[in-house]
Amino acid sequence: MELLVEGKATLRGEVEISTSKNAILPILIAALLSEDQVYINGVPQINDVEIVKKLLINLGATLSQQEGQLSIKSFISNIYPDYELVRQIRASLLLMGPILATRKTVKISLPGGCAIGTRPIDLHLKGFEALGARITLSGGNVIAQAKELKGSHIYLDFPSVGATENLMMAAALAHGTTYIENAALEPEVVDLANFINRMGGSVHAAGSNVIKIEGRKRLYGCTYTPIPDRIEAGTYMVAAAATGGNLLIKNVIPEHVKATTAKLLESGAQVEERDKSIRVERSGPIKPIYIKTLPYPGFPTDMQAQFMAYLSHCSGSSVITESVFENRFMHAQELARMGANIKIEGRTAIVKGVEGLGGAHVKASDLRAGAALLIAGLMAEGTTCIANSHYIDRGYERIVEKLNAVGAKICRG
Ligand code: UD1
Repeated sequence: MELLVEGKATLRGEVEISTSKNAILPILIAALLSEDQVYINGVPQINDVEIVKKLLINLGATLSQQEGQLSIKSFISNIYPDYELVRQIRASLLLMGPILATRKTVKISLPGGCAIGTRPIDLHLKGFEALGARITLSGGNVIAQAKELKGSHIYLDFPSVGATENLMMAAALAHGTTYIENAALEPEVVDLANFINRMGGSVHAAGSNVIKIEGRKRLYGCTYTPIPDRIEAGTYMVAAAATGGNLLIKNVIPEHVKATTAKLLESGAQVEERDKSIRVERSGPIKPIYIKTLPYPGFPTDMQAQFMAYLSHCSGSSVITESVFENRFMHAQELARMGANIKIEGRTAIVKGVEGLGGAHVKASDLRAGAALLIAGLMAEGTTCIANSHYIDRGYERIVEKLNAVGAKICRG
């Protein structure tokens, strides 16, 4: 699949942000913690959600969808999720927590997802061990077994989003109280905690670096609406600034995009925060800036690629340091095909601004790299052809329609 992007676009108008991918994936999986009916509102039509829905059905859940509302009735009859589905999406690792908590045994093949360097799972496994599970690895599978999960103190060496979420889900049905120390602070972690609490769980202080979870015997049905997508919002914010446009981005929690807002302001764009929306415009030159990716509330690694595309046209040299993932600069060589001047030294990229980019044949290597190429294509002179555009559809709902409605000319090839 490919996208053809006509260059020299100026984005103007209004765009509505969808439900957060990284919030809804763990929430759909956490619905497995209760055998009652759970209703999730605002389910976005993105490929990663489709894969998680298939995984839930594969485990024994019954799903039905009416417009944006998905109803899930769980009963886990299968403790070994299908390899073909698991390998497509990193978030499938989060199935471990609920299956282990409800069935006391889980077997899962090592998961896939976007190719962004080594992504170990040691923190997840160490946490399950602390909760009393025995872990064995065999033939590319991880098996976790426990007679009973017991509340414990878990210290994470790094505030991993996935490990915090997986352990929070397991601890929600454990016997006794669990503390997750050095927990991830991301808004999606808080949203998952709110969802578990809506199901009758007892998760305290999510959003701080020590989360306390009092295990419950069972959880109940509920209705829940997850938060809007801060990375989708950030992507449109950068696209507006990159094209010298003026966009009103609706359904945003401004607090969640503070780091993106700060860097856009530094680069010379105008950003106006409102209650649930943000306006971004730019008329002057793009000033060079320094960016370092960090866990929340630091600058998100999921916005790094989009900023690299934007800064490729800055008036000077910008420096981007990627501290969260190894090897997450795959988009740099594709941007170079379009004329960008980027030098990579280890975990740092030096982006020397060029006069302009030119359309080219490029390839998306992951979801956010794909979004970066889309932004570059909108800025460039001529037409850009982005191969592997299915990566973009993993996480951006109706992106072609949304961009075309505000002045882009993109078609699917
Ligand atoms: C989540 C997001 C992803 C985002 C990332 C960082 C979802 C579905 N995905 O991914 O979009 O880019 O957070 O904000 O929410 N690590 C270990 N051992 C582990 C687990 C992680 O060393 O057991 C390392 C990873 O290799 C990486 C860092 O910790 O270097 C951050 O990973 P983590 O926060 O776990 O990211 P994900 O939950 O996979």
